[in-house]
Amino acid sequence: MKITIFGSGYVGLVTGACLAEVGNDVLCVDVDQEKVAGLQQGKVLIHEPGLEPMIKSNMDAGRLAFTNDAAEAVEHGMFQFIAVGTPSDEDGSADLKYVLEVARTIGTHLNEYKVIVDKSTVPVGTADKVRAVLEQTLEERGMGGMGFDVVSNPEFLKEGDAIDDFMKPDRIVIGTDNHDAAEHLRALYAPFNRNHDRMIEMDLRSAELTKYAANAMLATKITFMNELANIAEKVGADIEQVRVGIGSDQRIGYSFIYPGVGYGGSCFPKDVKALEHTAGQQGYQAKLLQAVDRVNDAQKRGLFQKIQRHFNGNLEGRVFALWGLAFKPNTDDMREAPSRVLMEELWAAGARVQAYDPEARREARRIYGERDDLVICSSSEDALENADALVIVTEWKQFRAPDFELIKGRLQQPVIFDGRNLYDLELMETEGITYYGIGRGASVARSE
Ligand SMILES: NC(=O)c1ccc[n+]([C@@H]2O[C@H](COP(=O)([O-])OP(=O)(O)OC[C@H]3O[C@@H](n4cnc5c(N)ncnc54)[C@H](O)[C@@H]3O)[C@@H](O)[C@H]2O)c1
Repeated sequence: MKITIFGSGYVGLVTGACLAEVGNDVLCVDVDQEKVAGLQQGKVLIHEPGLEPMIKSNMDAGRLAFTNDAAEAVEHGMFQFIAVGTPSDEDGSADLKYVLEVARTIGTHLNEYKVIVDKSTVPVGTADKVRAVLEQTLEERGMGGMGFDVVSNPEFLKEGDAIDDFMKPDRIVIGTDNHDAAEHLRALYAPFNRNHDRMIEMDLRSAELTKYAANAMLATKITFMNELANIAEKVGADIEQVRVGIGSDQRIGYSFIYPGVGYGGSCFPKDVKALEHTAGQQGYQAKLLQAVDRVNDAQKRGLFQKIQRHFNGNLEGRVFALWGLAFKPNTDDMREAPSRVLMEELWAAGARVQAYDPEARREARRIYGERDDLVICSSSEDALENADALVIVTEWKQFRAPDFELIKGRLQQPVIFDGRNLYDLELMETEGITYYGIGRGASVARSE
C-alpha cells in the first residue's frame, strides 16, 4: 500500500519505518529541510534503538523515501498520516497549528479519495477541525465535494521501545464515523494484528480522548507514588519497601509506581495540561489533573532542595557530577527532562555541572550551547572528577552497579543524590557513602 507520513520526528519516523518494513511503499515528508537532507543520506538524528538500521534497509529496498515536496507527498499515499508535533501553547492547550497546516497542505493538493489518519496527540474535536480545514481548502480550489475520510489513530509507542511497541502493539485504536474507513486501516494494520485482534474501533471523539486518558493515568500513577515518597520521607519509611508491598497487589501492579524526580518527556507534561485545558473549556475543573501537574513540577525541584540542604544553602562554586540528561533511559530526548530543571537551579545557585549521558550529550549541547558552568563528559567516570557530589537523574542500566571505590576516589566527598533510588541503603552505609534517595526516610535520617 502507498502511505504518506507528515512529520519525520519520533512518531513519524517509527511509523514510516515499521510500515515500510512489512512491505508498504512509504514517503515521509517534513518541512525541516536539513532533517530531510540528512534522512535522504540515511542519517537519523534521534536515538531510538533499531530505528536507523531499519530506515536504511528499507531505503535500500526502495520502500522508504523522504521529501520536502508536499505536492508529491499528497499525491503519493492513499493513507495520509499526520504525525507532527502538538506542543503546549502558553495557556496549556495543545497547539494545533502544525496539524491544521498539514490539513491545509493536503487540501491544497488532494485530487482523489484518501484517508487522513491523525496520529498526533490531539484534543477532542480536532478531527472535526481537520475535516473543516480540508473542506474549506477544497472549496477554495473549486473542488468542494471531493471525498476523503478523517480517522483518529492515536499512537501509544514509548520512546526507547518504539519499534517493538509499533510492531507488537497492545492495541490499535481507530476512531471514525465511517466504518469503511476503519476497514481500510484494518487492512493496513493486518501485518501487526496477526497474533490476535488488537484493533479497537470507536467513535472519533472517544479515540482522541483515549490517548489523553492513557497518558493522564500513567502520569497520575507516577505522581501518586512521588507524593507517597514525600510522605515516606517525613515519617521515616522506605518507599522502595512500600512500592514492593503495594505492587504485589494485582489490582495495582508493579509498573509505573517507581518514585523519582518527576515525569518529563514530550508527552506526559503537555498531555496532562492539554486535557486539563480541554476540561476547563467545557466548564469542568479537572482538580486531579491540576494536582498531578503541580505535584510533578514540585517533584522536579525536590532533588535540588536536598542538595541545597546538604550544603547548607551554599552552592556557589561547587561542582556536581550529573549522571543522566535524557528524560528517561534509551532515548536522547531532553524535552521537559528533570535534568534541565535541576541543572538550571544549580547554575542559578552558582554551581557548575559535569554531566554524562550515554545518548543525550549532543542534545544537551544543542539546547545549552557552550557555557562555562556545563562540561559535557564522554564517560561517567570523567564526570566525577573532583566533584562535590554525584547526582543521578536518569536510570540508565549502566548506572545500576557502578564501581563505588572509583566514585569515592574521584569525588571530593562521598555523597550521592539519587533521583532514581538505584542503590541499596545498607550497601551505601557499608561503603561509607552519604546517600540521599527519593522517599527513603531511613537514608535521610541516617545522613542528617
Ligand atoms: N514522542 C513520543 O514518544 C510520542 C508518542 C506518542 C504520541 N506522540 C505524539 O505524536 C506527535 C508527534 O510527536 P513527535 O515526538 O514525533 O514530534 P517531533 O517534534 O519529534 O516531530 C514532529 C515533526 O513534524 C515536522 N513538521 C512540523 N510541521 C510540519 C508540516 N507542516 N509538514 C511536515 N512536517 C512537519 C517537524 O519538522 C518535526 O520533524 C505529537 O502529537 C506527540 O504528542 C509522541
